[in-house]
Order: sequence, then C-alpha cells, then structure tokens
Amino acid sequence: CGITGYIGNKKAYPIILNGLKRLEYRGYDSAGIVLNENGTFKLRKTKGSVSDLIAKCKDLNSEATVGIGHTRWATHGVPSDINAHPHISNNGKIAIIHNGIIENYATLKIMLTSKGYTFKSETDTEILVNLIQYMQETQNLDLATAVRYALNEVIGAYSIAVIEVDQPQEIVVARLSSPLAIGIGENEYFIASDASPFIEFTNEVVYLEDGEMATITLKGVDVYKIKDNSKVNPQIHELKTSLEKIEKGGYEHFMLKEIHEQPRSIMDTMRGRLLVEEDIIQMAGIWDYQEKFLNAERIIIISCGTSWHAGLVGEYLIEDLARIPVEVEYASEFRYRNPIITDKDIVIAISQSGETADSIAALKLAKEKGAFIYGICNVIDSSIARLTDAGSYTHAGPEIGVASTKAFTAQLALLAMIALKLAKHKGTISKERFNSLIIELETIPERVAEVIKNTESQIKKIAELYAGAGNFLYLGRGYNYPIALEGALKLKEISYIHAEGYPAAEMKHGPIALIDENMPVVVIAPKKGYYDKIVSNIQEINSRKGKVIAIVTQGDTVVKDMVTESIEIPDVSEYFTPILSVIPLQLLAYYIAVLRDVNVDQPRNLAKSVTVE
Ligand code: G6P
Repeated sequence: CGITGYIGNKKAYPIILNGLKRLEYRGYDSAGIVLNENGTFKLRKTKGSVSDLIAKCKDLNSEATVGIGHTRWATHGVPSDINAHPHISNNGKIAIIHNGIIENYATLKIMLTSKGYTFKSETDTEILVNLIQYMQETQNLDLATAVRYALNEVIGAYSIAVIEVDQPQEIVVARLSSPLAIGIGENEYFIASDASPFIEFTNEVVYLEDGEMATITLKGVDVYKIKDNSKVNPQIHELKTSLEKIEKGGYEHFMLKEIHEQPRSIMDTMRGRLLVEEDIIQMAGIWDYQEKFLNAERIIIISCGTSWHAGLVGEYLIEDLARIPVEVEYASEFRYRNPIITDKDIVIAISQSGETADSIAALKLAKEKGAFIYGICNVIDSSIARLTDAGSYTHAGPEIGVASTKAFTAQLALLAMIALKLAKHKGTISKERFNSLIIELETIPERVAEVIKNTESQIKKIAELYAGAGNFLYLGRGYNYPIALEGALKLKEISYIHAEGYPAAEMKHGPIALIDENMPVVVIAPKKGYYDKIVSNIQEINSRKGKVIAIVTQGDTVVKDMVTESIEIPDVSEYFTPILSVIPLQLLAYYIAVLRDVNVDQPRNLAKSVTVE
C-alpha cells in the first residue's frame, strides 16, 4: 500500500491526490482521502484506482490544509469502498491510514467488541483506529500518546498516519517494518511511503526507523520511540534522486527491485501462517476444506508461464511429502482436450494476476465437471480468486516487472507450506521431520538474502562474458528441473536470447547436438539427490567443449573444478532448493538484458496479464 499526507498552508487535497498517483505502483485496488476542514472530516474513498478517487473528489473543493491519503493493496478484506482507507473510529473523531498487517487483530477485535465497539469493514486497520480511541477515552490521553499505547499492544507490521478532528494542526505517524518518509518544507510537511509525492516541494527528508513515531505540527517534527517515548534526534537526509528512481526504490528497474524484495515478500507469504513455535502451518483455505484435500484422489495444477513452473515444483513437493498424485497442465491444453475429471479431483490454478484467460477457462471447465477448484493468486479479489471454491493468496505485493520474479518465489513458498500441511494431516511425514522442515522454511528468506548478497556482483561479471551468446541451454534434475525451465524463460523473455530448459538427462536425446564451444549451459547442480548423475551430465557437456555455468551448494568442490563458472547457494533441504537456485538465474537474465539494452520491465510483445487466449 502507499500512504501520503500533508500539513501546511496550502490546499491539502490536490497535493495528496497527486501524491497518491505517484504511489499507485505500490497498490491499486482502492484509494481514499480524508481532510480535516475546520474540525470536521471530509472523507472520500472508493474501490478502484486513484483516478476513480479523483473522479469522486470533483466536488470536493476543500480549503483544508491538513489531510492524509491511501492507495491500497488488499491484505485483510476484499477491495471495496468500505474496506478502502482511511478508516474512522467509532466516535467519528480519529482517522487512520495504514500500510502493513496487524497480526493479532482477532484478539484485539474480541476485546473491543466486548467494550461495545462495532466495525463496518473487514480490515485490521479499523481495529487499530478503534484501539486508539479506546486508549484515548479510557486513559484520557492526547492523540499521540493514545497512538503510542495502542501500538504497544499490536503485533505486526505497519506504517500509519493518524489525524484527529479536534487537533486540526497535527499528524501522528509511526513505523514498524513498512517505510515512512517525512518531507520537511518551509512551514509545511509531507508524509509518504517514499519521497515521490513531495519531491517537487522539498529535498529534505527524514526517514523514520523501525519502532519510531513522530508528531508533526506546523512548528516542526518530534520523533520518539514507540516503546518508551524516549526522544530521537532525527537525521535529515538530502534527496538527490529522480522521481522515477524513488518509485523503483532506488533500483534501475522494477524487476531488479522485485528480485531484491524477495526475502521480504517470501516472509510476507509465510507471515501468520508458519507458526513454528506452535508447530503448525495455519492456512484457512486448506483447513476449512481438509476433508476434500485429505480424500482427494488427485490434484491437478493448471497454470501458464512462470506460474506453470511453480506448479511443476508443487507436483514434486506434494507427491513427495503428502503422497497425493499430482498432474500439472498448461491451462490452454487442459481446457481443450476433454480431460477426465471427477468430483474426487482438486484442481488448483496458480496465477500471479488471477486474470489469465486460459487459466480462468480451465477452472470453469473443471468446476462444470464437478471438481473442487482452488486458487493460488497474488492479486486480491482477482477473477480467479472470486471464481474458486477456496484459495490462498501469495501476498508478494504488486509485481510490476513483466517478467515474474517475486510472485514466483512466493508461489514456491506457498506450495511448500501446502505440501507440508497436507503431509502432516495425512500422516505421511513424522512429527519430528515436520518440525525440522518448518523451522528450516522459516529461515529461507534469510538464505535468499544471502544468495543475492553473495552472488550479484559475480553474476554481473558472468553476464558480461555471455551477453553476446546467441543460445543458452538450462539443465536441472528433480526439484530443479522446473527451475531450469524458469531460468530459460527469464532469459528469453527479457534478453531475447534463444534459451531452452531441459531435464538434464534428456539432453542426450537432442540438445546435446547443439553443444559446442559457443554454447553456454547453465546447470543447476546442488549437492542433493541425483548429484552424481548431474556430475556425469556436466562431463558430457565438457567433452563437447560447452561452457558450463553451474549453480552449486556452498562448499562444493567437485563440480567447481569441472566448470568455467560456479555460483554458490546455501545448503538447504532439497524441497527448498528451487527458491534459492532460481535467484541467480533471475539475476543472470536481468544483467544480460541490461547489457543488451532491452526494456527490461516491459519486454517487446509480452504482457503482464494475458487476458486473451
Ligand atoms: C504472462 C506473464 C508471465 C506469467 C504468465 C502467467 O505471460 O508475462 O510472467 O507467468 O502470464 O500469468 P499469471 O498471472 O496467470 O501467473
């Protein structure tokens, strides 16, 4: 989500609406604004884009000089007018915008309900604003202290901005794990998720750190700790950047930003689901239909493109761990081939956008034939999310680059959780093994961060050596066979180099004919099952003078000595290797594409969401 706000001497609403337009890349399913006009709130909010909000604000004509605005990427509750931010407290006096997620909202809701509070929306944010009212009323506090007390009761992630009707010259903001920037102008202040909304007004900015909050009035900005109210001396930074760069978080392209976001996005996929201390994986979408899942005779995964590759990894995971037969099909083939489907089948569609035409048609067909249909989507309330009987969101956040990266690793993390959960309930895995695997899964975001940190500069150099190649071959076995397909797809999508992914052993049945000294071959060779086999495959390539770029487990020496380039990934259970091995391949495709001067975020002929068949 994106948040912004203004306090100063100018009309607030044009500045806020303009700021929201700039933040729209952060989320775009609903938007809203609230202004404090002489002690009354003027509120406008709507499902849809910022342009829809602007249309709703045509008659606003407000002179207010204080206000806050929000553009949403739904987490709790579908996109709708009611769930859109800002949210107002029961007494009508406090307004809030929030980016993040309140994990203990259910407990807080029970407490507030018992005190007589009521809720209009399905959001966790509405709970927070009422908790602030509750603190204020029961302890007779000013707004900032009430916000601070409330936040000390909250578990989760947030950046928030709060205003109160009776305090017309004040905005209270706070941050934990979600960004918040304060722009310092002359007798005016701006707040936003990043500096893009205020870049033309000031180049002085204060970035709140985790656990800090601030009270902003016309007199200045007071920063202090949420925990104990201790004062913080804020550092003022000078902005030396362009608007475009800020939206991309300082990265050259959205794709690179999204690659780097993966430690965070994978954590967001697992947040509130992977409860290691309680030894459970909590997924309502599966749990509410456990009978269906545990008695399923077969799971069919249908999808397209990168999501189809995630489906293939899902097949390995679910069959291996939960022992349920899985088939993976291209949605476009499935829908036209008169497939045999019964009511004992579960058909799972995996789709980042939730709008892919072939996947929608395949799901409808499966539903007609009596299957239980399940959706794994990134975009909340998308067509597939609405069409399916149940589902799980990947919560990777908006993905802007056409070539999918963070949505893919989120899909892999989600499929790992589904497979482990089913295995636990089917009894196909021991309690101890389940425990140790979920403990390990929880560390995967850190491992992903290590891969990015340790390999990026090496991959840049490799990209320079191979950017001129005309063809690439990608090989992998087992869990990493789908990653070979995904690596090849990434490269062809954004660099326009012809690339093929193959199961390593199949190389002998065709692609080996292409191998000579001009053929780079990327081999995913972690020290796991089939390691010896893949070592033999590398030998076969070497004998034909192919140039091998290998993805190996840290500390590997055997493959390292055999190949031109080796890129190391940490040693993790085989089930989770795809989440790590795909990262260098994303980076390799990216850096080669940059060297070839391709429009990385919008490669020719490709669309982010393919709504035609
Ligand atoms: C398009 C996109 C791909 C994506 C595929 C499936 O081809 O460019 O990145 O993998 O569609 O999209 P979905 O939204 O269903 O995952």
